Amino acid sequence: MKIVYWSGTGNTEKMAELIAKGIIESGKDVNTINVSDVNIDELLNEDILILGCSAMGDEVLEESEFEPFIEEISTKVSGKKVALFGSYGWGDGKWMRDFEERMNGYGCIVVETPLIVQNEPDEAEQDCIDFGKKIANI
Ligand SMILES: Cc1cc2nc3c(=O)[nH]c(=O)nc-3n(C[C@H](O)[C@H](O)[C@H](O)COP(=O)(O)O)c2cc1C
Repeated sequence: MKIVYWSGTGNTEKMAELIAKGIIESGKDVNTINVSDVNIDELLNEDILILGCSAMGDEVLEESEFEPFIEEISTKVSGKKVALFGSYGWGDGKWMRDFEERMNGYGCIVVETPLIVQNEPDEAEQDCIDFGKKIANI
C-alpha cells in the first residue's frame, strides 16, 4: 500500500507514519511517500489511494505541491477507492469536507470517514493506528 502526504511542520507526516504502523500491524506492506517524491503511475496501480494534506491557505489543500498532484490525478481516479487524512489548526475541518466532496466528484469511493486531527496527533495516535488497520482490512 502507499500513503502520499504533504506536511509543512510534520503533523500530517506523523499521522501518515501512525497510519502506516496500523497497516503494518495488520500484516500489509506500506510505503509512506512525500508528495514531492510520488510516482503517479506507480501510485495508480494501487487499489486504495491513501492521501493526506494539512489545512492550508484559507481552508484549502497546500497549493504548490499537493494541489497540482490532485489536479494531475483527477482524471485518472474514477472508480478508485480513497482514504483521506490530515492535520488542521483553527478551522472546523472545512478543507477536508471539500477534499472529500472533490474526490467523490472525480468518481472516487471514499472508503472511511476522513481522519482529521487538530495540530499534532499525540492524543490521537491510536485513532491514526486504527484508521490504518481499517484501511488495511478493506
Ligand atoms: C499558511 C498556513 C495556513 C493555514 N491555514 C489553515 C486553515 O485554513 N485552517 C486550519 O484549520 N488550519 C490552518 N493552518 C494550520 C495547520 O493546518 C496546522 O498547523 C496543521 O497542524 C499543520 O499540519 P502540517 O504540519 O502537517 O502541515 C494553517 C497553517 C499555515 C502555516
